[in-house]
Amino acid sequence: SWTTGNVIEEQVAAIREQVGDRRAICGLSGGVDSAVAAALVQKAIGSQLTCVYVDHGLMRKGETEQVEKDFVAATGVQLKVVDAQERFLKALAGVSDPEEKRKIIGREFIRVFEQAQAEIIADEGPAVEFLVQGTLYPDVVESGGGTGTANIKSHHNVGGLPEDLEFQLIEPLRKLFKDEVRMVGQELGLPEEIVQRQPFPGPGLGIRIVGEVTKERLDLLREADAIAREELTAAGLDRDIWQCPVVLLADVRSVGVQGDGRTYGHPIVLRPVSSEDAMTADWSRLPYDVLAKISTRITNEVADVNRVVLDVTSKPPGTIEWE
Ligand code: XMP
Repeated sequence: SWTTGNVIEEQVAAIREQVGDRRAICGLSGGVDSAVAAALVQKAIGSQLTCVYVDHGLMRKGETEQVEKDFVAATGVQLKVVDAQERFLKALAGVSDPEEKRKIIGREFIRVFEQAQAEIIADEGPAVEFLVQGTLYPDVVESGGGTGTANIKSHHNVGGLPEDLEFQLIEPLRKLFKDEVRMVGQELGLPEEIVQRQPFPGPGLGIRIVGEVTKERLDLLREADAIAREELTAAGLDRDIWQCPVVLLADVRSVGVQGDGRTYGHPIVLRPVSSEDAMTADWSRLPYDVLAKISTRITNEVADVNRVVLDVTSKPPGTIEWE
């Protein structure tokens, strides 16, 4: 019968068999899938696994700390954190186009990750031949089921990896659906904040600033987003909404009045949606008092924001994200 205990036991045995006394690496994104995959592999092979977390500076408030502290505390995993905030900011300077931002973030991410891999491989110790991925059953079906090895292409390779190095993949979540992955994560003792996390795009807050991405704008958006999340959680609404992008319209200003005088600040957009699979979505009918609380707090607590607006567009025609 299907129990999380059985799944874990089965996978742990299979991973031990597959890896033997060699080593594996795993990239952590802060999301549920990579965290649960890493925790499973850690349970199987312990210090033969090294995780890599690239801090691109586009995460939300507290998320990097949740990986650095809480995830490590819960699993005992060996973690290499790469602080690449400056690098990403520099690469994104002057760029406003959404697809251009995605390309840059994706490219920089691969470079930083491969550099970290190269450093781990160069360490003393047994060969690193395995790459852990949090592939789920729906991903397997969508991509036609093929898998086996990951080929690190040399044109991505800035860190001195052997040309065309091949990793064998470890994909312990290949037979699981998202809700099952969450159950396995819970059973493995992962922090609630990671296991129950709502979807968050890889490019992070970089595609939630309409306009150029700067350090100041990221800090401002991080504050506004943290307030919205805090109030949604306090109101017990996390399970009712699929996700709630909080967007900074950095190139828009509007007139306001606060305290003694006139302000000319930026709007923040709240985009709470309900959805089954993100392919279609409807805007969430949040209680007015919760919206009021979020609006009051953001305009009071976040400098340079003087207006909060609610996105009442379904998908289609609007996408969930603004970029
Ligand atoms: P859209 O905006 O297309 O989003 O309705 C659908 C779902 O995908 C997420 N999303 C992304 N995830 N990289 C990601 O990893 C991306 O570039 C990206 N763009 C959108 C979005 O948060 C939503 O869950």
